[in-house]
Amino acid sequence: MSEMKHLVTLEGLTVDEMMAILKAADEFARGRQQTFNQKVVANLFFEPSTRTQYSFEMAQKKLGIETITFNERVSSISKGETLYDTVKCFEAFGIDALVIRHPEENYFDQLMGHVSIPIFNAGDGSGQHPTQSLLDLFTIWQEFGYFEGLKIAIVGDVANSRVAHSNIQVMKRLGMKVSLVAPPQFQEAGYKWHDLDEVLTEMDIVMLLRVQHERHQEALSLSQAAYHEQYGLSIERERQMKANAIIMHPAPFNRGVEIADEVVACERSRIFKQMENGVYVRMAIMSRAFER
Ligand code: NCD
Repeated sequence: MSEMKHLVTLEGLTVDEMMAILKAADEFARGRQQTFNQKVVANLFFEPSTRTQYSFEMAQKKLGIETITFNERVSSISKGETLYDTVKCFEAFGIDALVIRHPEENYFDQLMGHVSIPIFNAGDGSGQHPTQSLLDLFTIWQEFGYFEGLKIAIVGDVANSRVAHSNIQVMKRLGMKVSLVAPPQFQEAGYKWHDLDEVLTEMDIVMLLRVQHERHQEALSLSQAAYHEQYGLSIERERQMKANAIIMHPAPFNRGVEIADEVVACERSRIFKQMENGVYVRMAIMSRAFER
């Protein structure tokens, strides 16, 4: 059997391997057809999801892959079954791959080496979100055609964001200049922190993040209006951005908090493009795992 094509973090991928995924995504975006008859993938989501779960499903349908959607609430998880035993069950059924989103950081460590089918990480707590990073990279690559030297500000709840964690690592590896902006409560050790208005006009990309209320022990000390004032992309801030700069957000977004209502669909926003690209990138990831 060929090497198992798991995708749990981007650390295990070389730059060439990532570029091959982006190129395949580009082909799917241009209408490449590929069919994997007889393949069945189960989507196991232990946290809410709209974009990640349904774009995986859309990608599976476009590739002719049959899907099983796991519903945690009416599964044996409610009888105390562990993630490990749930995964071993799907493996026993003969499933060809698993997409998993789970609140526990590094949940996949307990599975690596114990399962014989590819695992695609759709988000592990505040840890990593590799498929989101790849779709973000694909969106940036489509826009600029390169990564080296591009300046990005990642703004918001960095400490609790798996999107930020995956992106900071991979973007630095690709030679991008990453500036982080966050309220003190959402900062973490090991990084330099910036003021949004000081970096804004220099940026090629401004990426906003949702405040991850569900991961906080303590409530956010700022009101929504105060957050918007200090950290939100208002229309006034949008106007100060460089001519060809773009706006990104993994979504779901909160209008009027991290991003102004009018900015969501403005000319330089690529937020809906990111959603579209999520389908192509996930097609590329599954194609890579199933291709011989
Ligand atoms: C993100 C996630 O779930 O990490 N959304 C996504 O996958 N598109 C970001 C978030 O929930 O804020």
